[in-house]
Amino acid sequence: MSLLSCTGLTMHFGGLTALNHLDIKVDAGETIGLVGPNGSGKTTFFNVLTGIYRPSEGQILFDGKDITGCSPQAIYQAGISRTFQRSRLCLELSVFDNIMIGNTKNRNDGFFFNIFHRKAFRSQCARFEERTRAALERLNPALASRMHCAVGDLSMIDRRRVEICRALIGSPRLLLLDEPSAGMTQDETRQLMDEIMALQPATRPAIILIEHEMNVIRRISSRCIVFNFGEKLCEGSFEEVTSNPVVQQAYLGTEVSA
Ligand SMILES: Nc1ncnc2c1ncn2[C@@H]1O[C@H](COP(=O)(O)OP(=O)(O)O)[C@@H](O)[C@H]1O
Ligand SMILES: [Mg+2]
Repeated sequence: MSLLSCTGLTMHFGGLTALNHLDIKVDAGETIGLVGPNGSGKTTFFNVLTGIYRPSEGQILFDGKDITGCSPQAIYQAGISRTFQRSRLCLELSVFDNIMIGNTKNRNDGFFFNIFHRKAFRSQCARFEERTRAALERLNPALASRMHCAVGDLSMIDRRRVEICRALIGSPRLLLLDEPSAGMTQDETRQLMDEIMALQPATRPAIILIEHEMNVIRRISSRCIVFNFGEKLCEGSFEEVTSNPVVQQAYLGTEVSA
């Protein structure tokens, strides 16, 4: 059984069809490179998977459970986490605070717990600090020492690391990365991808990576999926998809000679 199985996934915005009967399967441990021209529906696919939009048609099974139309919170609880194409960090808050925002799985936010159970509250905070430090150390030890710095003082690559740690803190089984290289140099992108791939297989979830940088896709994807106008144009190994004439025409903008 696949970890993720989407069948006939369709999303209409008024008269616009952003996703058109997509059938997509992802197995545990896979790293999928998702590519396609701007506007081809990649981010919408993530938004539908994570419950931001309810699909117009189709079904999403995650770990055998039907999560179609579930709330983002329920989908996060089920084990899917994401980062966003445009950075969604609270710049004036610390690295720790930004990561804790993502740790709703084990956090007691109850009013009485926070006000009256001071000892338990403090030990919860200490546990979270330890957990956050460990998550940062696994990804990038240097950032762990800046855990209480404001995120606004960090470089772009460190901000991306914080977003990725926030997504990883709930131990997801599927991680969705929406153009993590945006705003970074090629070297920084390569470094960040190496750090993600260096996570121990036991702690590394299956990944769907939206990325325009084809060298990154080549290096880390075990399989590629190409979108065009909300449809799956093709899928296969990097070599298979990039040598496909239809992909070359649609995505790489190359006229293929006969
Ligand atoms: N909330 C929305 N309302 C209306 N149209 C949308 C909305 N979100 C995305 N779209 C449209 O859906 C299409 C796919 O967009 P998107 O998924 O962002 O593409 P990509 O991430 O591949 O660049 C685009 O035409 C976009 O304008
Ligand atoms: Mg997008």
